[in-house]
Amino acid sequence: CGIIGHVGDGNALEPLLTGLENLEYRGYDSAGVAVQNGSGINVAKRSGRVEELKESIGDPIRGTVGIGHTRWSTHGPPTDANAHPHTDESEDVAVVHNGIIENYAALRDRLAATGYEFTSDTDTEVIPHLVQYYLDAGFDSEAAFRQAIDELEGSYAVTAMVSGEHVLYAARQGSPLVVGMEDGEYFLASDVPAFLEYTDSVVYLEDGDVVIVDQDGVEFTDLDGNPVTRPSETVEWDPEQAGKGEYDHFMLKEITEQPTSLAQAIEGRVDPTNGRIALSDFEPGTFDGIDSVQFVACGTSYHAALYGSLALNQAGVQSTALLANEYSVSAPPIDDETLVIAVTQSGETADTLTALRRARAEGAATLTVTNVVGSTAAREADDALFIRAGPEIGVAATKTFSSQAVMLTLLAQRIAGDLRGEPAADLETLLPELESMPGRIETLLDESDADLIAERYRESQSYFFIGRGLGYPVALEGALKFKEITYEHAEGFASGELKHGPLALVTPETPVFAIFTGQEDEKTLKNAEEAQTRGAPVIAVCPDDHPAVEAADEQLAIPETEPDLAGLLANVQLQLVSYYAADLLDRPIDKPRNLAKSVTVE
Ligand code: G6P
Repeated sequence: CGIIGHVGDGNALEPLLTGLENLEYRGYDSAGVAVQNGSGINVAKRSGRVEELKESIGDPIRGTVGIGHTRWSTHGPPTDANAHPHTDESEDVAVVHNGIIENYAALRDRLAATGYEFTSDTDTEVIPHLVQYYLDAGFDSEAAFRQAIDELEGSYAVTAMVSGEHVLYAARQGSPLVVGMEDGEYFLASDVPAFLEYTDSVVYLEDGDVVIVDQDGVEFTDLDGNPVTRPSETVEWDPEQAGKGEYDHFMLKEITEQPTSLAQAIEGRVDPTNGRIALSDFEPGTFDGIDSVQFVACGTSYHAALYGSLALNQAGVQSTALLANEYSVSAPPIDDETLVIAVTQSGETADTLTALRRARAEGAATLTVTNVVGSTAAREADDALFIRAGPEIGVAATKTFSSQAVMLTLLAQRIAGDLRGEPAADLETLLPELESMPGRIETLLDESDADLIAERYRESQSYFFIGRGLGYPVALEGALKFKEITYEHAEGFASGELKHGPLALVTPETPVFAIFTGQEDEKTLKNAEEAQTRGAPVIAVCPDDHPAVEAADEQLAIPETEPDLAGLLANVQLQLVSYYAADLLDRPIDKPRNLAKSVTVE
C-alpha cells in the first residue's frame, strides 16, 4: 500500500493526488484522501484506481493539511468502506496505515464493547477509534496518538490527523515511512517517489519513531516523546525511475524483495514454538472429508501448483497439478470429496477461472491461492488463501512464485495434518528453516554469481534446466523465466527424463543448469554428467560442500536447507541468471514482447 501526507500553505489535495498516482505501483485496488480545513475533516475514498477517485471528487475538497492512501488489500476486499483513510464515527480522527495490526481483533472487541461502531473489515479501523477513545478520556491529541500507537502489535506505518489541528502525527514500526521537506512544505510517505516532484530532501524514519509535523517543522521523537536525531539526505533519482528505486527494472526489484515478501507471507501463519502449522486462515476441520486434491493453474502459477502437488504427494495425500487450459477437456473425475485449488497470482486468468467454475459445477470443494484480495478467483471459490506478496509489476512473475510455493508448502502440511491427524513432515525442522528463508535469500542475493554465469554462457544456442522431485517444477520455472525475458530457447526437464530423448539436443552449446535439492541428488548428478560427457557445460545449483561442485563446470551457490525449501533458493539464482542474460541482450525485461501479466481470454 502507499501512504502520503502533506502539510503546507496551499491546498493539500493536489500534492496528495499526485502522490497517490506516483504510489499506484504499490497497490491500486482502492484509494482515498482526507483533507481538513476550518470546518473539520473531509474524506473522499473509493474502490478502484486513483483516476476514478480524482474524477469522483467533483467539488474539490480544500484544506492545508491532508493524508491519502492507495490500497493493496490484505484484510477485507477492496470496497469503498475498506478504502483508507479510516475515521472514527464523528470524523474527528482520520488515519492511513500500511502493514498488519496483529492484535486488531482484541482491540476491536474492546472498543466495540464500549460503544464504538465499526464500519469496515479492516484492521486499520481500530486506530482512529483508539485515538478517539483516548481523546474522549481527556488526553490531548499527541498523547492520545502515542497511547494508541503503544497498544498496536504487528507492523505499521501510520499517519493520522485530528480535526481542527494543522498537524500530522506519524509512527513507524516495520513498515517504511519517509519525510520530505521543502520551504515550509512537508510530506510524509511510504516511499520517496510519492513526492519526488516536490522535493528531493528526505529523512527516513526508523522503527519506533513517532513524528509530529506542522507548519513550523518536524519533531522527531521516540514513542515516549524523547527527541531523536535523524539525518536529512538528498535523493538522486529522477521521478521517472522512482518506482523502481535504485533498480533498472521492476523484475530485479521484485527478485530482491523476496526476503520481505516471504516474511510477509509467513507472518502470523506459522507457530514454531509448538511445532505446528497455524494457517489460521482456515477453521479447524476445513479439510475434513477431502480425499484428493487437484491443482489448476497456468504459466508460473502452474509451476507453483506442481510444487504444491508434489509436496502433498510427499505428505501422503493424493494430488495432481493440471494445466487449467487442459482441464475443460480432460479433468480427472471430480466428486464432493475432491478439493480443487486454483493457483493464480492475479486471480483473473480466464483459463483458471473456467477450470475453477467447472470444478464448482461438479461439486468439488474449491480454494483459490492468490495475491489479489477481491479478485474474481478469490470471490468465486469457497475459500481463499492470500500470498501477500504485494503488487508485482514485472510481467515475468518472480516474488509471487516463491510466495505461492511457500504458502502451498504450508498448506500441504496443514491438509496432510487435518487428513491424517498428524503433520507429515518433521515440522520441528521445517518450520525454523522456513522462518530462516528470508535471511537465506538475503545472503544468496548478496553473494550470487548469476551475472558472471549469464555473461559466460551468453553465446549459447539453448539452455536446459533439470531437477528431480521438488527441483522439477523449479527446472520448469527456470526455463520458462529464461525464455520469457531473453527470447532464447530454454527447456526444463525432470532430471531422469533427459536421457529419454532431450539428450539428443545436448552439445557444447547447450549449458545445463542442474538443481540439487537433496532428493536423490546422486541420480541428478549422474544425469548431469550424462550431458557433460556429451560436451554440455553443467552449472550445479547447490550448496557449497555438495559433491556436484567438484563434478560440475560451474556452481551457483545456495545456502544449505531442507529439501522442501532448497528448490526455492535455487529458483532465486535462476531468476537472476535469466535477468542478467536478458539484460545483456538488452531486452525489455519488464514487458516482454507478446506477453501480458494477466491473460483474461481463453
Ligand atoms: C500470464 C503471465 C504469466 C503468468 C500466467 C498466469 O501468462 O504472462 O507470467 O504466470 O499468466 O497468471 P496468474 O495471474 O493466473 O498467476
